[in-house]
Parts: sequence; C-alpha cells; structure tokens
Amino acid sequence: MDGSCKHCLKWMWVACFYFEFMLVSAEFQRFQHPVKADGSLSFLVIGDWGRKGAYNQSQVALQMGKVGEKLGIDFVISTGDNFYEKGLATPYDPHFKHSFTNIYSANSLQKQWCSVLGNHDYRGDVQAQLSPILRKIDSRWLCLRSFLVNTEIAELFFIDTTPFVDEYFRNPKHQKFDWRGVIPSNKYLTRVLKELRCALRESVGKWKIVIGHHPIRSIGHHGQTKELITLLLPILEAYNVDMYINGHDHCLQHLSSITSPLQFFTSGGGSKAWKGDFDYLDGGGDDEIKFYYDGQGFMSVELTPTNAKIAFYDVSGNVLHSFNSNQLYYTYSTEM
Ligand SMILES: *[C@@H]1O[C@H](CO)[C@@H](O)[C@H](O)[C@H]1NC(C)=O
Repeated sequence: MDGSCKHCLKWMWVACFYFEFMLVSAEFQRFQHPVKADGSLSFLVIGDWGRKGAYNQSQVALQMGKVGEKLGIDFVISTGDNFYEKGLATPYDPHFKHSFTNIYSANSLQKQWCSVLGNHDYRGDVQAQLSPILRKIDSRWLCLRSFLVNTEIAELFFIDTTPFVDEYFRNPKHQKFDWRGVIPSNKYLTRVLKELRCALRESVGKWKIVIGHHPIRSIGHHGQTKELITLLLPILEAYNVDMYINGHDHCLQHLSSITSPLQFFTSGGGSKAWKGDFDYLDGGGDDEIKFYYDGQGFMSVELTPTNAKIAFYDVSGNVLHSFNSNQLYYTYSTEM
C-alpha cells in the first residue's frame, strides 16, 4: 500500500447538528448518518432546480414531499446547479429562500440536504453557497465541494466535478467562473482523486454511491463528460462502486454498464427540462440505455442490505421507471 493514504486517516472529530459526527481533512469532510431501525436507508435525489418555483420546480417539490413522506426519507441529495443562472451572489442572496427554503417546504423534506456544486453555481460566488451562514438561515443546507457521508449500510462520496471540465477553463462562451480554491486545477483534481481512491479503498459500506454534477454516461443534451470517463470511471470500476448519480442534463435517465455492476443515474429534472433534446447516437458508450425521460421529475433510492431500489417520478408523481439491483442479472426492464 502506498503511503499516500496516511493523511486520509488524520480526521478530526467535530460534533454536528444533524449528523452524529463530522471528520475534517484537507479536501474531504466526512459525516456520519444513522440508518433506520430496520437497518435500511432511503433518500431522494433532485438536480438542476433553483428557479424560484418556475418551470414546474414547485410541482416537482410537491411530489417530492409526498414520496418523501411515503418512504420516510432520511435525507435529500442535490446533484448541483442549485441556483440559476449564476449561483448565489452572497450568502444573504434572497434567491436562497425563494428557490430552496420556500419551495421544498413539505414536512418530509425537512431533512438534511447534501448538495454538490454545478457549473451554474460556479458562475456566482461559490464561497457563498459553501458558507456556514446558509446553514444558519436554513439548517437543512449542506453544500461542500467534495465530502463523504457514511452510514451503516452505504457510503456516499460527493465529488465536485466542474473543475474537471476543460472547456470551462477555455471558456468559449466568456462566462465568469469563480475558480477560487480550485486552481491550478490539475493539482486540485489530483488531490480529489487521490482522496477518493483512499476513501473507497477503506470503505466497508455495503453500497458505494458516488455523486457529482456532470454525467459520465448520458444521451442527453450535454452527453458524456470525457474528462470523467478518463479520470473518474476507472476508479469507480476498480473499487466496485454500485452507482454514479449526476445531474447537468435536464432529464431523468438510467444506463447500465455492460462491463461492471455500475449503474449510471441522471436526476437533473428539478425545473426547466429540455424536452425533445437528446442524442441517441452518442453518450452511452457501449453501455445499455435502460431509461430516458426528457421532462421534469426526481428520483428515489431505497437501500436494504440485499437490494437497492431506484425509482424515477414525473411532475405528477407517476413512477416512470424503477430498478431493483437484485434483479440486475435476469430481469432487465425494457422501457427502451
Ligand atoms: C409542467 O409540467 C407539465 C406536465 O409534464 C408540462 O406539460 C408543462 O409543459 C410543464 N411546464 C413547464 C413550464 O415546464
């Protein structure tokens, strides 16, 4: 074993409000979250949402509240692009209340939210979204660049994927990105990937789930992210990660790796969806496309020691697609 893992162990324990414990390292912070009494865990995933309720954001939120109630969810995950079009301007930006607090107001959604940043968030003041001030305004909010959530049944690894994308640094559209703290990006990415590798190597969770904003595989508008295929995918495969969950493409989709148990899920339908906008020819690699929906909606995950159940819902709460990992090798559903 190389010595590079040593610093992963130097966690510092700090008490935290929702989570039992929080461990701090240079790049990754680590949180502990309890499972339900029966050992299971459930959560919702939403992405690409903050538009002050517009483009059906409020309708999606309403259905999330209902499904959250039914499943008794433990937390919510946001796959990024939390606030359109340009993230938050300051930690006191009213956009936060208008697009988050006031929208996801259902009882069942009053749980911890674990969020990564999307490229649109990088176009505002990134420090504002990461700021503890937001947690004082709404204690549900937790957005960090890269972090881990440990539960007895699963480990969730949140990765800040925007600095992976070369195009944003070449920036042909002349957009402003807040790169403070992540440049030079090659050094930053090396550090993030090293810590991810260490954390995966040490992981004893039954389920290993990695979350980032950008897709690895996607047949949506943006398609696959070549930097993630090169840098991230080999790590996910080497450490038997069960799922990679992302947003960025404004759709709901499920692809299944043909070379490993890895499942790719996109939950990017939190508000404005790109109807009719997809590319069947590219984006899936050789992997199997199991489901694609170019409208609004969200996703649920229910974990038990023997099964991971994933479901996608539309703006009216209809289940569009569901998947049980314990049926992976014999009953593929055939939506597409
Ligand atoms: C809201 O959802 C309905 C049902 O899917 C859809 O017909 C309508 O176009 C959506 N509205 C917007 C503004 O996206």
